[in-house]
Amino acid sequence: MLTLGIETSCDETAAAVVRGPGEAGVELLSSVVASQDDLHAHFGGIVPEVASRRHIEMIMPVVGEALQRAQAEWDDLSAIAVTVGPGLIGSLVVGVAAAKGLAIARGLPLVGVHHLEGHIYSAAIDSTLTFPSVVLIASGGHSHLVLMREHGEYEVLGRTLDDAPGEAFDKGARLLGLPYPGGPALAELADSSAGRVDPLPRARLPGSLDFSFSGVKTALARLVKEQELDAEGRARAAAAYQESIALSLAERAIEAAEESGYLPIVAVGGVACNRRLRALLAAKAEEAGLPVIFPDTKLCTDNGAMVAAAGAHKFGHAGADSLDLDCAANLQLRSWPRAEQD
Ligand code: KG4
Ligand code: ZN
Repeated sequence: MLTLGIETSCDETAAAVVRGPGEAGVELLSSVVASQDDLHAHFGGIVPEVASRRHIEMIMPVVGEALQRAQAEWDDLSAIAVTVGPGLIGSLVVGVAAAKGLAIARGLPLVGVHHLEGHIYSAAIDSTLTFPSVVLIASGGHSHLVLMREHGEYEVLGRTLDDAPGEAFDKGARLLGLPYPGGPALAELADSSAGRVDPLPRARLPGSLDFSFSGVKTALARLVKEQELDAEGRARAAAAYQESIALSLAERAIEAAEESGYLPIVAVGGVACNRRLRALLAAKAEEAGLPVIFPDTKLCTDNGAMVAAAGAHKFGHAGADSLDLDCAANLQLRSWPRAEQD
């Protein structure tokens, strides 16, 4: 069984083909990501109208390339999965319209995927999810801790109260005069600093597994404004900022895993590419005796493979969606309805 996955929720036009799921998860046959970073760098951030126009130009070439690289024909496919939200509505609508048109033209079942379940299922590519587990989703738009007892069963344990961690990285980068996309640039600057740095103050929300990153952003803004930072000073400021965000995410993830019964942790989303977060979370998990899983960094940032993986699992458990399927900018994460025989 081959599934085509389409992702256009933000500024990446992406498509991929996966086989399965089998005993070792889904097998990745191809993954094509057309990044719009260069296009938006000029504006210092994503311009939604510019993003939609580029998706329209790229969607069919990207889908064609994904099939070609997988050496798959349309007749080899069993389903088409597409991200239906949350995201930029003008971007989502391009992917959903393409997926629907292709499903009708090729007589294929259509499966709508929530962007966050896409990120979660990036850990099911050439690997399997273990249940129960706690998933930390840290991306540009989201910061969620989710307890999963089964495929497609999501219990949100905590979420950000303000900025998402990727957003915090991007805003911090802007304060430090770094180019868009800011996360990787800030991380690189932070990693160039010499010696250990203390984290900037981080929010403590006693009795809650929620996150908040607006305070650390204010602390960095004050630091940049009040001090004439030389090159090493900027690198140390970046490192102190990164340390604060990474610690918040790692500490909260460990707390969630311990409180839920000492469960394994899965860390996904663009910010899960961050080397310092990976090191901190791995060290803290080892201390607590908890397994921690990180997908390959290529699968952490937005891509079509994670959507195909989630869609392939969802199709097996909950069946296809109807052609009335719509997209929504603020879609909530919901557990899958179970097919009759479940
Ligand atoms: O998951 P993703 O590709 O898109 C969303 O769903 O939002 O995440 C993109 C976010 C951006 O904010 C980007 O700056 C951040 O992930 N990011 C990083 C790193 N790589 C990407 N943040 C910190 N360190 C990184 N190495
Ligand atoms: Zn994402």
